[in-house]
Amino acid sequence: MSFLTPEKPPQVEEPAAEIASGARLVPRITIQAFCEHSQTAQLVESALHDRRMSKVALTTHNGGIEGAVETYKSNPTPNLIIVETTLTPDAIPESLARLAEVCDASTRVIVLGHVNDVLLYRELIRSGISEYVVLPATSAEIVTAITELYAAEGAAPIGRTVGFISAKGGAGSSTIAHNVSWAIATGLRQDCLIVDMDLAFGTAGLNFNQPPHGLADAVLANQKVDQTMLDRLMSKAANHINLLTAPATLDRTWDFEEREFEQVIEICQKSVPVIVLDIPHAWNAWTRQTLASIDDVVIVAEPDLANLRNAKNLADAIKTLRPTDNAPKLVINKQGVPRRPEIGAAEFASSVECSLIGQIGFDAALFGTAANNGQMIAEVSSGSKVIETFSAIGMQVTGRQVTHGASKGASLLKLPSLFRKRA
Ligand SMILES: Nc1ncnc2c1ncn2[C@@H]1O[C@H](COP(=O)(O)OP(=O)(O)O)[C@@H](O)[C@H]1O
Ligand SMILES: [Mg+2]
Repeated sequence: MSFLTPEKPPQVEEPAAEIASGARLVPRITIQAFCEHSQTAQLVESALHDRRMSKVALTTHNGGIEGAVETYKSNPTPNLIIVETTLTPDAIPESLARLAEVCDASTRVIVLGHVNDVLLYRELIRSGISEYVVLPATSAEIVTAITELYAAEGAAPIGRTVGFISAKGGAGSSTIAHNVSWAIATGLRQDCLIVDMDLAFGTAGLNFNQPPHGLADAVLANQKVDQTMLDRLMSKAANHINLLTAPATLDRTWDFEEREFEQVIEICQKSVPVIVLDIPHAWNAWTRQTLASIDDVVIVAEPDLANLRNAKNLADAIKTLRPTDNAPKLVINKQGVPRRPEIGAAEFASSVECSLIGQIGFDAALFGTAANNGQMIAEVSSGSKVIETFSAIGMQVTGRQVTHGASKGASLLKLPSLFRKRA
C-alpha cells in the first residue's frame, strides 16, 4: 500500500449543470450509512435534499465499517451501504473483507475515507467496491456517487422480477404473492411493486384495501407510458409496498398481444428493486411471454392430482422457454385440508422436478379473515408460523441466502474480489 499523493483526486467534480431539471431520479432503493463522525452522517443525510434522491429511503447509523459488520451479521443488507472509515489505507481492505462476508450479493458499497490515495482507490474498485469518496466532500459529491451507480445512462436496471402463478385456479398464488411481497418489504426493507396482471378478477386491490385501477391504464397507454405516468398510477399500500392494481371490471375484455406488458415491466425495473407479478392462471401469448422473460417463477400448487399434472406441464413448458434461466420453483399450499387425501410434498416436488421452497398449511380462519379484512396475514396474526414461510420464500426469490449470520456471504470469499462486480 502506498501513501503517494495521486496526480488527480479519485472522484471527478460534477459540473453544476448536471443537476438540471432533466436529471434522472435515483430509483426506490434502500440505503444505510454507517458513519464514524456526526458531521459525516449529516453530510449523507443532506444528500436527501437533492431532487434526484426523492424516492430513496436512507437511514444513518454509528460505527463505521465495524458497525455495519455487526449489524449485517443478523440483518439483511439494503441495496446500498455507505461506510465511513478512519482506518489507514492498509487496514481498509481487510476491514471491508469482513463486511463482504456478511453482504448479500446484490448489495453495493460506497466507502467514504479520509485518505486521498489513488492506489487504495484502485484496489477498492478492483475488489468490487462501487466508489471511494474522499472526505471532506460536498453533499453534491455524495449524490453524484449514488446517481452514477443507479441513474446514469446505461446503469443496469435494478428491478428483480418474480412471477407467481397457480397450477390450478384458487391454489393461492395471489395470496402468496402478496404476503411474500409484504415479507420482503418489512423484513428486507426493499421496495416492492406488486403488478396484478389478472385484469378482470385480480385481488391485489382487495387484499391491500386499495382502489382498483393502475395497471390497465398503464398497459392501454401503450407507447406513451413512462416513469411519471407509472408513479401516478401506482398506489402505495404500505411502507415499501406499491401496487399496480387490476381494474377488476368486465365492461370490456382483456386480450393482449404477446409483448404488451413488456414496456411497463421494463420501466418498473428501472425504479423498483423488487417487482412481484401476480400472474393469472391462464395460458395465452402474454402469460407465456411473461413467464419466459422474468427472473424467477414460482408455481403455487395444492397437493392433488390435477395440480400435479398442471404444475408438471407448467414447469416443463417454462424450462423449455428459458433453458438457461432460473428453473421455476414450487410452493405447496393448503396442506392438511381435513379429510382430504393429498400427495406428499416431497413426492409432488420430485414428480414436478422443481425445488420446493415452501409448504403452507390450510387455515381457513386465518386466510379467510385476512382476505375479508383486506389485510395481510402478518397484520391479522403477527405470531403466525406461516409468516416465516413467506419470509423464506421472499429470501429465495430475491436471491438471498436463507441462512443469516456468519455464514451468510461465505461464498463471496471464494470469488477473486471481495464484493461481486456488477455490470
Ligand atoms: N393456506 C391457505 N389456507 C386457507 N385458505 C387459503 C390459503 N391460501 C389461500 N387461501 C384462500 O384461497 C382463495 C384463493 O386464493 P388466491 O390467492 O386468490 O388463489 P389464486 O390466485 O391461485 O387463484 C382465497 O380466498 C384465499 O384466501
Ligand atoms: Mg390469482
